Amino acid sequence: MVAKKLQIDSVLRPEVLIIGAGGAGLRCAAEICERRPGTSILAVTKMYSPQKSHTSTAQGGMAAVDPNDPVDKIIYHMFDTWKGSDCSADQNVIKKVCEPAWEQVLWLERHGMHFSRTQEGRIAKRPFGGHMLNFGKLKACRACYEVDRTGKGIMDTVWAESLKHGVVFLNRTLATELLFRNGRCTGAIVLMEENGKFVAVLAKATVMATGGKTRMYQVSSNCRQNTGDGLALILQAGLPVMDLEAVQFHPTGIVGPGILASEALRGEGGILRNKDGEPFMERYAPTAKDLAPRDLVSRHTMTEIREGRGCIHPDHKLPHVWLDLRHIPEHIHKTRIQEVCGFFRRFVGVDPQTQLCPVTPTAHYQMGGAPTSEFGEVQKDAKEIVHGLYACGEFAAASLHGHNRLGTNSLLELITMGRVVGERVAANLHDAEDPGDVPRDAGQHVFPQFSRYLESCGKERYARIRDELCVLMTKKVGVFRNEKNLAEAIEKLGELKERARHTKLAGTSVIMNQELLHFWELDHLLNVSMVIAKSALARKESRGAHYREDYPERNPEFQYHTLAYMTEYGKVTLSRRPIDMSIFEAGGEHYERFAIIERKY
Ligand code: FUM
Repeated sequence: MVAKKLQIDSVLRPEVLIIGAGGAGLRCAAEICERRPGTSILAVTKMYSPQKSHTSTAQGGMAAVDPNDPVDKIIYHMFDTWKGSDCSADQNVIKKVCEPAWEQVLWLERHGMHFSRTQEGRIAKRPFGGHMLNFGKLKACRACYEVDRTGKGIMDTVWAESLKHGVVFLNRTLATELLFRNGRCTGAIVLMEENGKFVAVLAKATVMATGGKTRMYQVSSNCRQNTGDGLALILQAGLPVMDLEAVQFHPTGIVGPGILASEALRGEGGILRNKDGEPFMERYAPTAKDLAPRDLVSRHTMTEIREGRGCIHPDHKLPHVWLDLRHIPEHIHKTRIQEVCGFFRRFVGVDPQTQLCPVTPTAHYQMGGAPTSEFGEVQKDAKEIVHGLYACGEFAAASLHGHNRLGTNSLLELITMGRVVGERVAANLHDAEDPGDVPRDAGQHVFPQFSRYLESCGKERYARIRDELCVLMTKKVGVFRNEKNLAEAIEKLGELKERARHTKLAGTSVIMNQELLHFWELDHLLNVSMVIAKSALARKESRGAHYREDYPERNPEFQYHTLAYMTEYGKVTLSRRPIDMSIFEAGGEHYERFAIIERKY
């Protein structure tokens, strides 16, 4: 049966279109509105409600150094971020994000967020992996938090601000194609799930903030909607993505569902133990121990498991190690980590106050994303930007994190870069070109794509392909990688894509068709996985979260960001973006700390 002809139903004309209504998108919206009251902003989200955005699930905290802190210093935070990134973050961005961090904590506080407090009434802070005082000597207390649901506090605050300023929301709406006129981005075609209508949204500025994408792994802390849709749109438009090989595995996912068990648990004193009860991180990172950066802790956890010192969970049949929280005082269990401890009770039936908790690395974060300038302008190559198109949050790679992110730097980044992008958009709106009419070629990608889903026949099952994809990515493009596995993964990804063309929808309505949505998401997962695998194959070194067993050392020949283009599935073109070393090059105080340094914890 030939599906009905797909077409644009109507046109909307806000001044600003925000794709993705999580923490970064809405912090950006709030900044635009504060600087330019009355700006018309339309925010579209795939979710039922912005409150369901993945930001809401963030637990442990937001890194920030109070300039009046008697022991901590902003320069230590900058150094830790650089060292944590395995010398591949951009130093101009590190400075841009770390210096105003405390102002942004105060911004949130003044706009209604309830940070946890000390007995003296100050904003409470806790330690997190890789954050240290005095250039790596002692652990720092730098993560400001709201109990163990900091992301929820942030979402409440930025959503309330957006509502107050009159931002209009389209929920359950998918951004399906970016629109361009003479190379300038002029908006996007969106599909409103509830009525099945494709709408052209024409805007002077389009901000992408669609978050992360780790649902192609078997165990993932991401919400199920994080399927790389934004990255797929960027690739579809012929634009590059950056450093996709850098996938962060958080060391402590709850075995089975993969739900995050915050690093805050180790910040409050939790200890990782192997099956013999040994606190194994002491062996690998004698100074930072359990609070070493995530790439190291995940890798060493997997080493314990691979070398037979892990356990197998009796219900989930998955390997794991233990997180020991039993010695943590009861008042801390009750006041600082109660929500995440509740997850252990609910999902694996253990009481963290009296029993060991089973944990395993879980795919958590993308360090890479859409390459942007330090102002969040999306780049078309290492030098030039795409006018009218901006990005922030996890979706964007400016890059603060390089190949490994420190915990709590993500909430910091989404708030500070959301603000920076908001400021840039507001400034540029004054003389931004009008988007004009719907471009003639609008729909060139999305309509053939959706027609293919609606018309495809065959016996393949979408869910089976997706499961196979998750197993493949976990086994061959996971914590440990090597040439043979990556080459096999690339070949198999080609087969999965072909099989995905032979799946048949049960119903061909475009209205509220969850299966149709799943087909679209599967395409994106496959596309993004292919770019991850090809980028990982090309980077013949180990750096941060990208670990090659066949090239276990960092190699100065790869001292650059990977840019990857893919307009046809499997045909990935790679190029490079230099890593900004401006702090080192400026030669100011402590500049030598920002050289290419050794990374020991
Ligand atoms: O462990 C956590 O609470 C996660 C924090 C983060 O990813 O920044």
